[in-house]
Amino acid sequence: MRNARLIGIAGLAVLAATVALAQTTVNPLPEDQPAQTTPIDAASSTDMDPVAALATTHWGDPQAGAIKAGACAACHGLDGNSVDPTLYPNLAGQGERYIARQLALFKSGQRVNPIMKPFADTLSAQDMRDVAAYFTSKRSGAGSADDTVINDAASPYNGMKFYEPGQRIYRVGIAERQVPACFACHGPSGAGNPGSSFPQIGGQQSWYVARRLQEYRSGETTEANRTNFDIMAKVAKHLTDEEIASLASYLQGLHNRADQVATAEAGNTASANAPAAADAAPADSTAAPSP
Ligand code: HEC
Ligand code: HEC
Repeated sequence: MRNARLIGIAGLAVLAATVALAQTTVNPLPEDQPAQTTPIDAASSTDMDPVAALATTHWGDPQAGAIKAGACAACHGLDGNSVDPTLYPNLAGQGERYIARQLALFKSGQRVNPIMKPFADTLSAQDMRDVAAYFTSKRSGAGSADDTVINDAASPYNGMKFYEPGQRIYRVGIAERQVPACFACHGPSGAGNPGSSFPQIGGQQSWYVARRLQEYRSGETTEANRTNFDIMAKVAKHLTDEEIASLASYLQGLHNRADQVATAEAGNTASANAPAAADAAPADSTAAPSP
């Protein structure tokens, strides 16, 4: 049993490596791909493009989604907090619309991932909303940020703690390179804004955040509708590798302080050294100079 699981994990690592290769060599979809936003009769939804089919759905039902979510638990955890932080992103607390859209993108092949594709394939458009609603209802945990001091004379951030440049960019951006403050869209604790499909990014695994930021920075996507991708492509365009790594570390530890207190009261202090969101600049002080 245990061996089978280990072999499974090793297999996934190989698969993940293949994914990384596959993603760099994939051919982009034609530019003139039709925009898939017109609501179409639900009756034909089985043959419909999975992204277009989302327009035929209603709000997800977390109870119906809980049953479907069993298939996701082996990797993303029963409550959406990943079973292996080095391999799988967290889903707990993520916005419903964001999760459902990513599932539709995996199913359509517009977001290329051979691990996720077979799981997305089993879901109807309404299943996607339901399973998404289930994970949205869960509370995300957080890891911790790297606070080792940067010791590199060539770095503009020499002497700062590793996560500090990221923290600063998150709160105030980088004016001279037109990098906006992340929290303007993702919120002070990184909880996102479900209404406008801005995803939750607080507490997310650092490798995953770094990879996503690199994808956005590359400006290349296989998504037919580039609207959301391009918002982030513009944000990430002028970030350096060092800044991406620091942002990723900061975000891994970013969480709502109220949650931290709740966790500490429950006798779990594992995330106590992570920077809490309450440290973040309040919404009315974005223009204040950062330390
Ligand atoms: C075998 C492991 C595995 C299983 C099972 C699995 N996933 Fe995933 N999932 C992954 C991996 C790996 C990624 C990261 C893909 C990438 O690198 O872009 C991912 C990414 C995702 C994302 C994108 C997250 C984001 O922030 O953009 C969503 C949403 C998701 N999975 C939902 C699900 C759902 C819902 C199920 C169950 C129906 C499921 N997954 C089952 C491995 C798995
Ligand atoms: C103008 C609004 C806006 C700003 C500012 C912004 N984001 Fe985003 N972000 C978005 C949107 C919209 C998406 C969803 C893009 C998509 O669908 O691929 C997103 C997605 C992401 C993701 C992918 C999440 C996932 O689960 O895959 C990460 C990571 C991220 N943003 C980090 C950042 C960081 C770091 C900054 C600051 C340097 C930032 N964002 C600034 C709007 C914004």
